[in-house]
Amino acid sequence: MPWWFFRRRSHNSSHVAEPAQPSSGWQLGEVALPRLQGPRRYLQEQPYLLPKDLGEVNRLDFQHYVLRAALRGNYLAPIQQPRRILDVGCGTGQWAFELAQQFPQAEVIGLDLEQIKASASPPPNYRFVQGDVLQGLPFANDSFDFVHQRLLTGAIPLTAWPGVVQELARVTAPGGWVELLEVGTALQDYMPSGPATQEFNRLAAQLAALRGLDVESIVLRSLARYLEGAGLINIHYQPLDVPLGEWGGRIGSLMALDLREACKAISAPLAARFGRPEQEVLALIDQASQEWDEFRTQWHFAVAYGQKPVRS
Ligand SMILES: C[S@@+](CC[C@H](N)C(=O)[O-])C[C@H]1O[C@@H](n2cnc3c(N)ncnc32)[C@H](O)[C@@H]1O
Repeated sequence: MPWWFFRRRSHNSSHVAEPAQPSSGWQLGEVALPRLQGPRRYLQEQPYLLPKDLGEVNRLDFQHYVLRAALRGNYLAPIQQPRRILDVGCGTGQWAFELAQQFPQAEVIGLDLEQIKASASPPPNYRFVQGDVLQGLPFANDSFDFVHQRLLTGAIPLTAWPGVVQELARVTAPGGWVELLEVGTALQDYMPSGPATQEFNRLAAQLAALRGLDVESIVLRSLARYLEGAGLINIHYQPLDVPLGEWGGRIGSLMALDLREACKAISAPLAARFGRPEQEVLALIDQASQEWDEFRTQWHFAVAYGQKPVRS
């Protein structure tokens, strides 16, 4: 099922905010970035903005540990003894590896467009499945006790979100849980912010909007409504504000380092798109990261989870 199916299906959905900034008529054929841009490797024919390469593997692993520290754990849903766990858009698989270790009796599946970190030796109860959540998940209804998806705002077009969450709910077993962790994309989610941060956010938002991605934090604020729209109950929504910079202690320093690397990861496509030298974009990122300490900037995340009702 292609992602535009979700887009059409979601169009008349009353529970989800419509994009305040339309996707400027983004079409699948328009997304192709050069596969190799400078030293980075990007996916073609996908809305996903970030690179897929060794540098990004390292950043995602680093980010995993920072998020786990900020969240004080890998998840918030009140799962008991899950038999099957699915992580959609699993990235390096680190989250799923840890769940597999925590629940050795469970089968844990990580799904992503591509397998990365293939050389790592995953726990024996972990398995990778190649798939594209925008095309529908390759699993039967009611297959998993816990379905987790983290940080796909930069990959799932805004209008596809309701359908994607319905798909996560479809593969969840009655009584099982779906958990989403997302990050703000709008300027108001980096607050307070200085001029370089504002300028970088404006450029990045324009690039993301071309792919139909959310640039106004509509996804962050709609997570609970997506879960509700997918028929889930016992929904819980928890905002998470993470400091950026040394003023925020260890987590603040690490998160600033992570965000700086994430910004640098799209410097080449930004430079190409806006006809600027990449050095200029990199200098803007340096200035922005200095501002985070100066302004004591916080970055907004949120976690939402809900339970699939048991049929009577
Ligand atoms: C920002 S990374 C987050 C990875 C992981 N969830 C984490 O928190 O460490 C987004 C991941 O989603 C994957 N992805 C992007 N579009 C996808 C799609 N349509 N279907 C499945 N995975 C996708 C990317 O390949 C990437 O590994």
